[in-house]
Amino acid sequence: MHIGTVDSFKARKKADVLVVPFWKEKAHAIPAVEVKALHAHYEAPISAGDFQGREGETCLLYVKDQEEPRFLLLGLGGQDDVTVERLRRAFSSVTKVCQKHKLREVNVLTPQYKALSSEDLMKGVVEGLLLPNYTYTNSKRHSLKNNEPVNVEKITLVGVGKAESQMAEKFATIVDAVYMARDLVNGNADDVTPQHIEAVARGLEKSHKNVTATIFDKQRIKKEGMGLLLAVNRGSSRDPAFVIVEYKGNPKSKEKIVLVGKGITFDTGGLNLKPTGSMETMREDMAGAAAVLATVHAVASLELKVNVTAVVPSTENSIDALSYKPGDVYVGYSGKSVEIGNTDAEGRLVLADALAYCVDKLNPTYIVSIATLTGAIEITLGNEASGLFTTHDALADLLAVSGSETGERVWRLPMYEEYKENLKSDIADIKSTGGRPASSINAATFLQEFVGDKPWVHLDIAGTAFLKDAKRYLPKHATGVGVRLLVSLVEKL
Ligand code: BES
Ligand code: ZN
Ligand code: ZN
Repeated sequence: MHIGTVDSFKARKKADVLVVPFWKEKAHAIPAVEVKALHAHYEAPISAGDFQGREGETCLLYVKDQEEPRFLLLGLGGQDDVTVERLRRAFSSVTKVCQKHKLREVNVLTPQYKALSSEDLMKGVVEGLLLPNYTYTNSKRHSLKNNEPVNVEKITLVGVGKAESQMAEKFATIVDAVYMARDLVNGNADDVTPQHIEAVARGLEKSHKNVTATIFDKQRIKKEGMGLLLAVNRGSSRDPAFVIVEYKGNPKSKEKIVLVGKGITFDTGGLNLKPTGSMETMREDMAGAAAVLATVHAVASLELKVNVTAVVPSTENSIDALSYKPGDVYVGYSGKSVEIGNTDAEGRLVLADALAYCVDKLNPTYIVSIATLTGAIEITLGNEASGLFTTHDALADLLAVSGSETGERVWRLPMYEEYKENLKSDIADIKSTGGRPASSINAATFLQEFVGDKPWVHLDIAGTAFLKDAKRYLPKHATGVGVRLLVSLVEKL
């Protein structure tokens, strides 16, 4: 995908379609960009009332004597209460129409609008156009022969100056990282293995200066005493991997944000085997890992002046005669003993080792864990927000702002001291599960045990990482959630 700009209407080149945006005023559409010469072409559907400018409304026209054979009228909704999110939703309609009609090259008359900063305007337009411009079809073969899905290949923003042009490029770079996360999550679990995650980390080291990858193999993981990661790995025929990717964009500063992502490349549940209906999408269980690796990719591509480290504990949670067992006790990096309540609560175990290691060795200023951790968070919030857990109010507030700015919303749940009682064990220091009530909070409370007093926030993305159907500007399947949110957080910290 190429996103370019030209500064005037006259300077635009041939394309398949010209997007002409409109505001909705009472029951009438008014152009968001005045180009007198175009009036005659789009007057008819407007005066007939067939196109009113509602948010995301479109009307495809065929025109003569223009650089484009088609105009696509696009409604932006009312002018008074525009937000970045509304622009995202409106502009996503353009991409969906283009995909349907197989239009590859698009000129977009870019609206001018005083009430939003030009950065917000660019963000809404570019993210709205690009976030839905993705289809995962790598495994489709014969069935695609006559009907290949088409994505937009070239977008030119028309009437845009140099500063805005750079902003557009920045947002396109971030969306590229979102695609990277989606590809990792959508890929076959038998391809996206812990060893593949290792290779991705090495690739990041290779393609960015200031990025280094450190990888612990099974032997080193044993030596480090990561007994919880090893316990989860016991049912798998593939080795685990512990991956650390460091980006040093500000070597002078001691500040460092460590992002820990759950990297379970397939979750069968282990001996507490998942039933049919619950296992089929469990290749998504490394979406946290995908988000933190892609965030480092974005931050390094943008050369932000910050230090960010991604940490990924990775293994399959598979099933075998050697599988770790419910009721048994295992000791991990922290030295605390853990009674296994349920082998399907494996994410918190591998994260516990990663968090304890990170606190001990990486000297983080802030820690963020991100994981498809509990089915219960989807019951709580559906697909509309990720769960947020922390005792650090300032971090919670920052993430809430990042959430509303990016549209990757978060909703904070409580971490009252009393929840710790749910995790009491008769035979070990702590139990990994606390029963069905407050299941998502129990999981976060378990993680809290391993972060000491470091500023830490946990994001549960089990409801937002993967969609059954396309929704607004998000495609079907992997959403790439977390990348835009974390990039925004890193910029704020
Ligand atoms: N990977 C799952 C959580 C999940 C569910 C992710 C649905 C995405 C969609 C996690 O490892 C898990 O199975 N959690 C259990 C915990 C329970 C056994 C305490 C759950 O949520 O049921
Ligand atoms: Zn599980
Ligand atoms: Zn899991």
